[in-house]
Amino acid sequence: MHESLRVNGSRLERRLEELARIGALESGGVCRLAFSPADKAGRNYVEGRMRSLGLEVRIDAIGNLMGIRPGREPGPVAVCGSHTDTVGTGGRYDGATGVLAGLEVMETLNEAGITTQRPLAVISFVNEEGARFMPDMMGSLFVRGDLGIGQARAVIGIDGTSVGSNLDDDTFPGSDDFHGFSFGSYLELHIEQGPVLESEGIQIGVVEGVQGIRWIELNLEGAAAHAGATPIEMRRDAGYVAGAIAQYARRLSLEIDAQRATVGFLSLYPNLVNVVAEQARLTVDLRNPDSARLGEAERRLHDFVEQTAALERVRVRSEKRVDVAPVVFDARIVGIVEAKARVLGVSSRRMISGAGHDAQIMAGLCPAAMIFVPSSGGISHNVREYTSAADIECGANVLLHTLLELGASNSGTDHAKFMQFNGLTSF
Ligand code: GLV
Ligand code: MN
Ligand code: MN
Repeated sequence: MHESLRVNGSRLERRLEELARIGALESGGVCRLAFSPADKAGRNYVEGRMRSLGLEVRIDAIGNLMGIRPGREPGPVAVCGSHTDTVGTGGRYDGATGVLAGLEVMETLNEAGITTQRPLAVISFVNEEGARFMPDMMGSLFVRGDLGIGQARAVIGIDGTSVGSNLDDDTFPGSDDFHGFSFGSYLELHIEQGPVLESEGIQIGVVEGVQGIRWIELNLEGAAAHAGATPIEMRRDAGYVAGAIAQYARRLSLEIDAQRATVGFLSLYPNLVNVVAEQARLTVDLRNPDSARLGEAERRLHDFVEQTAALERVRVRSEKRVDVAPVVFDARIVGIVEAKARVLGVSSRRMISGAGHDAQIMAGLCPAAMIFVPSSGGISHNVREYTSAADIECGANVLLHTLLELGASNSGTDHAKFMQFNGLTSF
């Protein structure tokens, strides 16, 4: 049934351009850091699209936005989606692709007059990136009940403001708790953000899982001193220790199998040319598909930080800000994605995601999987991020046909019951 149905690729391309104008940077990229006015404007745009497609709109207390398309019967919903927040110097495809392709699927079904057996929905999660407020994937963690509204509101961002104060200035969030909503499945279309698909000339990544992520925030306290007059052995140089940690992150990546370690945020105080740094604040992003290796990387990092800081007489405060285990996606949905790519006549390969995604959080709530499309040059979290309209259209067609099958039958996890079973209080 409906085998010849296809999305409208040029309409989807136009929508991506419209959203990219919100928070546009002169360099061609986008800045819609979570809970900023640009992020809110982006979510408003998506809400407007949902309403114009006749979807039932629900918004929860943190700003997750859901548009539901009823089926012939109520019951577990086949959900797709992603996010529209970006890193500060982001591209126009990371996240936006999955949300707008989901809406394009709904528009295609509307035009074809198709009603699925089960309801379908598009969800746009808030603060997937975590670049301004840690943890990342905050919206999906909230939906899954791992993070309460009080906890989320108390998070202080890189600009010193709290999530709570930003939410209070934002009329966007609602009070919906998705009560009575049954997540049948969650499927996320996303750009690969790495080089594999493009270098192998393959159109679709059938994502089988996501590697684990840990984010460690380190606050180092030494002593300010004169850069010319203070002998090296008398220094308590927080900048030196921070630099040594960045070097050690590279060593971990080389010495532990499949390990990635990155110091992506580093700020020094007072940050002046002729003053030994009194304070350093930095983050270490650790990723590995294997839990044990990820644990080893974290242990070795902590040992190194302790020893190096002790030798320099620098005090250390360490906080784990993100701890997400590696995830294996639902074999049935992965199989459907692969089969749909085959039926559509497009090349595909199975792969593991290097980047973090809401799908890895949702996998703890309902069967989940992802579809990847190529990233030009493997570049992402960069204003030059690019995926061709043809590749996005191809991914959206795989999304359409996988959703049609999931919408025909969907077992489902009742959200309220899941929260109760896991001893979690709803939001
Ligand atoms: C999100 O984009 C992440 O992988 O950090
Ligand atoms: Mn993303
Ligand atoms: Mn991202």
